Amino acid sequence: MKDEFKSLLKEKRVFKPSKEFSKNAHIKSIQEYKKIYNYSIKNSEKFWAEKAEQLHWFKKWNKILTKNGCFFKWFEGGKINVCYNCLDKNIEEGRGNKIAIIWEAEDGQAKKYTYSKLLDEVSKFSNVLKSHNLKKGDRVCLYMPMIPELAIAMLACARTGLIHSIVFGGFSSESLKDRINDCKAKLVVTSDGSFRNGKVIPSKENVDAALNDCPSVKKVIVVKRCNNKISMKNKRDHWWHDEMSQVRYHEFKAVEMCSEDTLFILYTSGTTGKPKGVLHTQAGYLLYTYQTFKWVFDTKDEDIYWCTADIGWITGHSYIIYGALANGATSLMYEGAPTYPNPGRFWQVVEKHNVTIFYTAPTAIRALMVYGDKWPKSHNLKSLRLLGTVGEPINPEAWMWYYNVVGNKHCPIVDTWWQTETGGILITPLPGAIPLKPGSATHSFPGIVADVLKDDGTKAKTDEGGYLVIKKPWPGMLRTIWNNPKRYRETYFGKFKNIYLAGDSARIDKDGYFWIMGRLDDVIKVAGHRLGTAEVESHIVSHKAVAEAAVVPIQDEIKGQAIYAFVTLKKGILATENLKQEITGHVANKMGSIAKPSKIQFTDDMPKTRSGKIMRRVLKSIAEGTKEYGNISTLSDPNVVEKLERGRSS
Ligand code: PRX
Repeated sequence: MKDEFKSLLKEKRVFKPSKEFSKNAHIKSIQEYKKIYNYSIKNSEKFWAEKAEQLHWFKKWNKILTKNGCFFKWFEGGKINVCYNCLDKNIEEGRGNKIAIIWEAEDGQAKKYTYSKLLDEVSKFSNVLKSHNLKKGDRVCLYMPMIPELAIAMLACARTGLIHSIVFGGFSSESLKDRINDCKAKLVVTSDGSFRNGKVIPSKENVDAALNDCPSVKKVIVVKRCNNKISMKNKRDHWWHDEMSQVRYHEFKAVEMCSEDTLFILYTSGTTGKPKGVLHTQAGYLLYTYQTFKWVFDTKDEDIYWCTADIGWITGHSYIIYGALANGATSLMYEGAPTYPNPGRFWQVVEKHNVTIFYTAPTAIRALMVYGDKWPKSHNLKSLRLLGTVGEPINPEAWMWYYNVVGNKHCPIVDTWWQTETGGILITPLPGAIPLKPGSATHSFPGIVADVLKDDGTKAKTDEGGYLVIKKPWPGMLRTIWNNPKRYRETYFGKFKNIYLAGDSARIDKDGYFWIMGRLDDVIKVAGHRLGTAEVESHIVSHKAVAEAAVVPIQDEIKGQAIYAFVTLKKGILATENLKQEITGHVANKMGSIAKPSKIQFTDDMPKTRSGKIMRRVLKSIAEGTKEYGNISTLSDPNVVEKLERGRSS
């Protein structure tokens, strides 16, 4: 443990916002935060309605909030268009020539889109979509790298009333297929390939493989990005550039959408092998991402804001595109890997574009920290004024490095807790107001009532771990799971009546600060990416040599968590190192390389209860080497623990 880290814990150091920062902040002091917060809770609907006045409405709402058990609707009766709010509204307000998106390619080229130029491109692509006979509410799947066409396609879906379902480009054809079939997408937008660490990854090939089994898809639009050789299927596949050059109209009037029409579906992992299609709607989501972006990142007109997430995850949806553009911000989009061509790449981009606000994941910070201070120190990072993290708990050591070396001791760090389901940030510092404690996401955002409950539903004591819950609905929350309202009700509202269950454990300290302690369900966070154990297991079991598999998370210094897999082979199959590699490659093929187990242990038996259920906590303690199995007397064969311990893969 580094000395600095030790003393930090001993001192329980608190980092107060500097006077300099607070002076110009939207919310300037803890007193002001408390005042706004108390008002927002006592008058929750009024608070959100007042904030909603900042958006452009074709028609105002009749009712702010409608409750039906655990199903909520916001701003019913209202007519709105999310794309209009992100583009047209900014142009009307005089930001037509302001840069909306700076795109930095992996090879160092950059391209800039003003708000006017972006609107032109989006309108053109809206016409392309329309020419393919799609009707309001149809699903469009976007399987693309981090290129401007992805932003254009999303915004065009929003403009035309189509529902986008973005599938992270790192997912394999199998995962893509499942996600397309679940929502029955009619059209897919992809690219010939994508660049990663200088290599070309074949996106179109993955689409072709998936589409052998996706009867709903009638058309594919392909962006030429890498010039790699691909095959184009007659009548089904069309080049983006051809389609764009053939459109007759360059304008497209934004469709008036009802507040509660679906904006997008985003698949995320849960406790079963089948990913959930988290569904977000128009007005509430837009309002929530708008307001959180403004206050959490404390944005000003002149900021250059960079969120390093991939748009294929919720962070990119909410804080590269919707929340950022709705605020008229300049949002940077980076195509490539953080360490390509060298570990200074992020810092070089910050310097090149004078980035002022930088938002990334703890796993990226830890990965870059390993290469030492010389990389950030060899770039001029003076433009930075605010840093942020998201996706997993940040360890104080990484926090300190980020604060001292990247932020040069003057940038507050907003550690933002939220989820795909929440649409936007729920627990977070407001940088001009809330004193920071490294590792804590601090307090609830205005309008949000977060708490920690014990199993029986009573409030946990100070510093006692429990279930993280949200007690009041908020506009950005998911509305349901695509085609599965039952799963929505059971997953999020099944444990405590009318209270949203986040699936995380947390504690609240004596100062009311939230400390997130990790997932309580079968979700693993590998390098910040959310994966379901059941989904990974089903892919391992689909290998012809495998009879049974169980995966558990283990701690990983860089990735936060990694996957440890226990695998039982079919009778007569030899357990070899080669087979381990084959299984790892198989998972990468089926699901994507982010899901590869970092360790595999072959075992003849699993620790099972008499009813045949695998006892995961036993596997977890074996994988981690803690030997804290708890009570194992209910195992059908307690000897299995010793055998597993002997075969542990270190
Ligand atoms: O466990 C929490 C963790 O990420 C989960 C949500 O994952 P996902 O839906 O992929 O969304 C990630 C980006 C918003 C949460 O249940 N998590 C997210 N942010 C934090 C976090 N854990 C600790 N601290 C955070 N700041």
